[in-house]
Amino acid sequence: MRIQQHPVLEFQRGEKVKFTFDGKEYEGFANETIAAALTAAGVRVMRESPVLHRPRGLFCAIGNCSSCLMTVNGEPNVRICVEKLRPGMVVESQKGKGVLYAAEH
Ligand code: FES
Repeated sequence: MRIQQHPVLEFQRGEKVKFTFDGKEYEGFANETIAAALTAAGVRVMRESPVLHRPRGLFCAIGNCSSCLMTVNGEPNVRICVEKLRPGMVVESQKGKGVLYAAEH
């Protein structure tokens, strides 16, 4: 479910964008975050807690916690609540602690 208008903020929904999450194809809109697209698609569990492996959903939704860390296009520990959706993104849930990212350059 998505809001159609906001009482305070003006926003424009972008074009439809396809991406994958854990191997399954999803659709969202340009100008929205990955978390918004997944939430609209009914995904509620964003990750597992690193120690006890409990499910974690969106918490702050402003990039200040670690509840939504995922691997995006091979880069681990991306906060998907502040990462904008782009066509063809490959989003994967993370189990346990994320690994360090080593750039190929
Ligand atoms: S939900 Fe807190 S950083 Fe994304």
